[in-house]
Amino acid sequence: MDVKRIAVIGSGLMGSGIAYVSAWNGFEVTMVDIKQEAIDAGMERIRNDVMTGIEKGKMSLADAEGLMGRLKATTDQAEAVKDADLVIEAIFENMEIKKKVFAALDEQAPAHTILASNTSSLSIDELASATKRPEKFIGMHYFSPVAAMKLVEIVIGEKTSEDTIDTAVAVAKKQGKIPVKAKNSPGFIVNRVLMPVLREAILLYEQGVASKEEIDTALTVHGKFPAGPFTLGDFVGLDVAYHTMETLYQEIGECFKPPETLKKLVDSGALGTKTKKGFYEYGGASAEPEPPKGADPQWLLTRISVPVIREAMILVDEGIATKDDIDKAMKLGANFPMGPFEMAESLGLDKVKVELKKLHQELGECYSIPKMLQ
Ligand SMILES: NC(=O)c1ccc[n+]([C@@H]2O[C@H](COP(=O)([O-])OP(=O)(O)OC[C@H]3O[C@@H](n4cnc5c(N)ncnc54)[C@H](O)[C@@H]3O)[C@@H](O)[C@H]2O)c1
Repeated sequence: MDVKRIAVIGSGLMGSGIAYVSAWNGFEVTMVDIKQEAIDAGMERIRNDVMTGIEKGKMSLADAEGLMGRLKATTDQAEAVKDADLVIEAIFENMEIKKKVFAALDEQAPAHTILASNTSSLSIDELASATKRPEKFIGMHYFSPVAAMKLVEIVIGEKTSEDTIDTAVAVAKKQGKIPVKAKNSPGFIVNRVLMPVLREAILLYEQGVASKEEIDTALTVHGKFPAGPFTLGDFVGLDVAYHTMETLYQEIGECFKPPETLKKLVDSGALGTKTKKGFYEYGGASAEPEPPKGADPQWLLTRISVPVIREAMILVDEGIATKDDIDKAMKLGANFPMGPFEMAESLGLDKVKVELKKLHQELGECYSIPKMLQ
């Protein structure tokens, strides 16, 4: 289907970003929120993005005028969606609230309209069940900040039709994004493959194998990651990381159980840079770094990479995504220097298998050999 008009529901951080990239790339956009203050704040964020575009020379004044001319905002959802070809929902992450909104959208939007959710963690099939058009329902998971992040995970529900998938892919491309496809499953691609990095790092730290600083340095200096797991966790917010891991633990099982250290930090209100204390302390008198334990950085890098590669292989085994899409998703959505399959190639598949066998014998089923490596 050819999409011309998009309605974006929610004008928060993500909704305003999605409205911006859509209007910038030629779509007619109406942004909706329940609160006028939220619309005003969303429009202000969009004007800032436009100013940045002009300052960086990416956008002319005429482009900016064109963009703003294609963008409307309202609190009247029924009016906003009555001629939309695609609705992208970006409201609070709450299943019951989202289902209510989708049930209403299903009544208000024309029969041809595709309904998409930007949920980070909720089941696309359950959201679709609130509508009478599950074949026209799909996940379009953007990353923050939307204007800068290239990745969109296209999340395919059990009943999503091929035409809906093709349309969502085409819209994401026209928005200047790089779409990857994932079957609806907990954490989709990026969160599912990213969580083992943090979890393994914390477990190694808890076992006294290495200090936080040694682990972060092994990944940044030797692995060329832009940030080590402890620094990244503090930056993203330990509450966000904990919530993501807890959801995967509830839905997939034991291998995603949040480590005790993470739980304790969150319970004590140490949430990372936003509270000036997380794994590390920020501002003022910082705590002394821990004494190094003398762990070999190359060994640490391999020790953390192997379970990450394993998780990526399980996604392929389960038919959730392709190797190519997983590599793309982790590079674009999590700033991995290499995709997990590229890491596996660079380490050598034999070595990955040998290391995983050792971990499996030592630590049990969370390190079992995936089918594609057997
Ligand atoms: N923040 C991120 O980094 C990120 C990344 C990817 C996906 N997401 C997902 O995107 C969604 C939105 O996240 P956000 O960070 O933009 O949240 P946000 O809190 O910034 O914005 C949510 C907006 O939705 C509005 N809203 C709530 N109920 C509404 C309704 N019934 N109708 C219209 N508007 C309504 C609120 O007023 C608010 O302005 C969530 O599902 C979140 O999980 C967030």
